[in-house]
Amino acid sequence: MPSLKQALDGFSPDTALILGSGLGGVAKAVRNAKTVPYGELDGFPQGGVSGHAGALVAGELGKHKVAVLSGREHYYEHGNAAAMRNALEQLAQVGVTKLVATNSAGSLRKKVGPGAVMQINDHINFSGTNPLIGEQDDSRFVGLTSAYDFDLIKSFRRAAKREDIALSKGTYMWFSGPTFETPAEIRMAKMMGADAVGMSTVPEVILARFLGLRVAAFSCITNLGAGMTGDELSHEETKENGPKAGLRLQAILENAFAKGLK
Ligand code: HPA
Repeated sequence: MPSLKQALDGFSPDTALILGSGLGGVAKAVRNAKTVPYGELDGFPQGGVSGHAGALVAGELGKHKVAVLSGREHYYEHGNAAAMRNALEQLAQVGVTKLVATNSAGSLRKKVGPGAVMQINDHINFSGTNPLIGEQDDSRFVGLTSAYDFDLIKSFRRAAKREDIALSKGTYMWFSGPTFETPAEIRMAKMMGADAVGMSTVPEVILARFLGLRVAAFSCITNLGAGMTGDELSHEETKENGPKAGLRLQAILENAFAKGLK
C-alpha cells in the first residue's frame, strides 16, 4: 500500500484538517482536489464509524495547501489512543505544520445549544489514558500549556466576526465513550470547568503537539449534556444536528483559509 508521501506525489500541504461527522462540506470546498480513500493509504484508519467517510482530500483551500481527513479513528473503537499517530506522523513528514481538528460534542452551557460552534481553547483529558504512554524518551513530556495556538485562535475568531457567526469558546473534556455520559458525570464535568464533552480530538491534539504541529480545534454542538433536557442522547441526534453547526463552522474555516492563517 502506498504511503501518504507516495500518494501525494510531491504535493506538500501546510495544513491538515480532521473532520468530525457532518463536516464533510469542507472537503468539497477544496480546489484541485485529489481524493484518496484511507483504505489505499498505509497507516491510515481502516475501520469507520457510521456517519464518517474515510478519505483524504488533498488540494487548495483559500491561501493554503491542505490535506483534509474526512473521518478519524476513535479510542473507543479498540482502546488504542494512538490510533491516529501514524497518519499524523506522515502528515508532518510531507510538510504539515498546522492541524485543525473538528468534532461533535455535547454542550454544558444552555446558551450554547445544538447548532452552535465552540472553539476549543483548552481541554481536560478525563479518559485515564494518553496516546504517548509507552513513548521511550524525554520527548514524551510534552508541555500542553499552549496546546491550542494563540495566533490560530485569533485567525479563526476574526473569520467568525467577518462571517457574523457566533463562535463561543471553552474547555473540551475528553471521555472515552462509546457510551454517552450520565447526568452525574455531566454535573461533575461542569464543576471541573468543562464547557463541552466528547469522545475524540484530545488524543490527536496531544500527538500533534508531540510532533510540533500548531493546533486549532472546534466543537460542533449537537446536544446539551445528559440530564440537562430530560431527553435521552443518541448517535442519531448527533448525526442530525452535526450538519447545522457544521455549516457554520465550514463558513468560518473557509473564510479563515481564504484570508490566510497566521
Ligand atoms: N457526549 C459525548 N460525545 C458527544 C456528545 C455528548 O453529549 N454529543 C456529541 N458527541
